[in-house]
Amino acid sequence: MYDVPNTEINVEQRDIKISARKVQVYYGTTHAIKDVNCEIQDKTVTAFIGPSGCGKSTFLRCLNRMNDTIDICRVEGDITIDGEDIYDKRVDPVQLRAKVGMVFQKPNPFPKSIYDNVAYGPRIHGLARNKADLDVIVERSLRRAAIWDEVKDRLDAPGTGLSGGQQQRLCIARAVATEPEVLLMDEPCSALDPIATSQVEELIDELRQEYSVVIVTHSMQQAARVSQKTAFFHLGHLVEYGDTSKIFTNPVDSRTESYITGRIG
Ligand SMILES: Nc1ncnc2c1ncn2[C@@H]1O[C@H](COP(=O)(O)OP(=O)(O)OP(=O)(O)O)[C@@H](O)[C@H]1O
Ligand SMILES: [Mg+2]
Repeated sequence: MYDVPNTEINVEQRDIKISARKVQVYYGTTHAIKDVNCEIQDKTVTAFIGPSGCGKSTFLRCLNRMNDTIDICRVEGDITIDGEDIYDKRVDPVQLRAKVGMVFQKPNPFPKSIYDNVAYGPRIHGLARNKADLDVIVERSLRRAAIWDEVKDRLDAPGTGLSGGQQQRLCIARAVATEPEVLLMDEPCSALDPIATSQVEELIDELRQEYSVVIVTHSMQQAARVSQKTAFFHLGHLVEYGDTSKIFTNPVDSRTESYITGRIG
């Protein structure tokens, strides 16, 4: 039913980039993530799929401590990146989020110029020595996000004045500008047209040469096209996790099968 490009024999085993053990997430008394264990490989695209409300975004936000910003949210368990506990008190969440970048479902450009949206991260993290360096980073990031041609003549215009799809690609450019090691993408293409969607999918494929990418998507076709690993969530549980080709052609759990064949969700 799905066109899965990789056959199982082509899926290489890579180093573990992120390891989550016994993760629980609560919003007040709502238990949103239940005892999730998951190892995310380096240089791999991992797709999180599952019905609305199953906890995909909540679990994704655990990986760069975005849940810290939600007052009623409490995270338990262990999450390490390259073996380091990201919830350790000594970890600065701002540094962490430069290393583990995020693109949200709803585009959220800063109320600044297009140029400054992209230059913001490299500036605060000292990645450019001078204006010429910064210009190079801004152009490269906008090109990678497939929006350079549309904005190159108006870099001083406000980012918020772009169309929804353009704003999203600007946010992707902003996220890749700091050269994150992990990029978290929560339904990044839901505001994009098919052309921009395929450009972003190409970018994702390019990014995985160097980084880990985790993408939440409601499109099974997209998960099958872009990911090598897939995690299926249901009611806060990680039900099944494995090679994308296996999950989409021969899932073990009946809940996974029902979801991918359209019977639940
Ligand atoms: N900020 C919040 N405050 C309280 N409850 C929340 C909050 N965010 C999520 N939840 C609850 O946690 C559970 C998981 O939600 P989450 O947003 O992670 O699901 P999801 O799989 O991303 O769904 P969707 O596909 O609709 O985006 C749901 O029951 C949701 O109502
Ligand atoms: Mg969500």
